[in-house]
Amino acid sequence: MTSNFDNAASLYLDLLKKSLTMTLYSDEPDTDDKNQGRFLQDFIQHYIKGAAVSMLPLARFENLQACIADVLETKVPGDFIETGVWRGGATIFMRAMLKAYGINDRTVWVADSFEGLPEPDAEKFPVEFKAHQSAVMTKVHKHFASGIDEVKLNFQAYGMLDEQVKFLKGWFKDTLPAAPIERLAIMRLDGDYYESTMDGLKNLYSKLSVGGYAIIDDYGEDMWTYCRKAVDDFRRENGITEPLITVDSKCSYWKKAG
Ligand SMILES: C[S@@+](CC[C@H](N)C(=O)[O-])C[C@H]1O[C@@H](n2cnc3c(N)ncnc32)[C@H](O)[C@@H]1O
Repeated sequence: MTSNFDNAASLYLDLLKKSLTMTLYSDEPDTDDKNQGRFLQDFIQHYIKGAAVSMLPLARFENLQACIADVLETKVPGDFIETGVWRGGATIFMRAMLKAYGINDRTVWVADSFEGLPEPDAEKFPVEFKAHQSAVMTKVHKHFASGIDEVKLNFQAYGMLDEQVKFLKGWFKDTLPAAPIERLAIMRLDGDYYESTMDGLKNLYSKLSVGGYAIIDDYGEDMWTYCRKAVDDFRRENGITEPLITVDSKCSYWKKAG
């Protein structure tokens, strides 16, 4: 039987997910909409022009919540990180879960350039390069740039800006190798591109505890990224055989076994 407290925490987290994703009063765009043009319009309206603090579909928040609950309940040691945070919503949720569980010895790491996506190499990553130069990416999405002050304001608005949150500002290739992170229980990679994903895996996976989770937001985003290839390359080169589990058509994760 769940206690009144557990029930209240779960009600709070449900409300928080809806607030962060702006789904209190409107539906989220359908990620699997076969009509790509309609999906793009809905995406722009809901996330880019709208006030959502995260562009994750609710299913990915459910997955993040389940992974966090598991590592907290089974006491898997380590901090939480998201690499690629945009307006900060998923990391705000990570911090809120620590608060809901009364955990004060874990840190949430918030890693981003806070200037948007880096330009991919045109020769090595032609599909990403083309997407990066496209009108919608440059003029509408603005390469998903969100400044650090805006992200901090979002943390503050939700009452989550405190000493358990640490910001890593800069390109992953520069910030992650030197980051003073000892151990991770959750690594959520959402940097879209091949190199952004590989930088996260190369620099963080060895710090992930057994029983912790590697969540790859863009694993199935094959139309405009090589994220899947980065993950497949890394897993093959490092002999990682834990099964990749699908969250939705774009996002997958695995639990580190040993
Ligand atoms: C799709 S958005 C992240 C969405 C976010 N997780 C959410 O909850 O809405 C991608 C983010 O990754 C960041 N990014 C991508 N590659 C990066 C890199 N190599 N170094 C630093 N930031 C990067 C961008 O600045 C952007 O904020």
